[in-house]
Amino acid sequence: MSSKSILVLHGPNLNMLGLREPEHYGSATLESINQSLTSKARAANIALETFQSNSEGDLVTKIQSLATHKVDFVIINPAAFTHTSVAMRDALSAVKVPFIEVHLSNVFAREAFRHHSYFTDIAVGIISGLGAQGYALALDYAIQHIDRSN
Ligand code: DQA
Repeated sequence: MSSKSILVLHGPNLNMLGLREPEHYGSATLESINQSLTSKARAANIALETFQSNSEGDLVTKIQSLATHKVDFVIINPAAFTHTSVAMRDALSAVKVPFIEVHLSNVFAREAFRHHSYFTDIAVGIISGLGAQGYALALDYAIQHIDRSN
């Protein structure tokens, strides 16, 4: 079993992917996205956990748990909390885990309130607008980052 691990965090309403505004978010379900990420990580001998919540507090608690249950990398789509959550940002700063921010839609091509993120300036990078493929690309980067830091 690998000692390396990645956590994928999904924010509110992403449990509705597939049904929810497919013109913005595509037709893939969260389950299918999680399954393909899990297989890709397994092929690289890395354990991958996924966690979705509609509750900001649960997401903060999950991020805080990384202080004692260390992971090597986080991939996060904070969804609507991207634009509101100082609490999730502070939790990520506290645990100091490198992370990539992913958005299915191109948030910069949408309403002005989506242009600001509380996460981007402390992220390793951001992928926005590439649909479900954005998660796969983020995972490719995370796997390479983990290989390099071995
Ligand atoms: C999103 C973009 C956010 O603005 C929105 O609130 C979401 C999803 C995306 O993946 O494109 O829920 O993070």
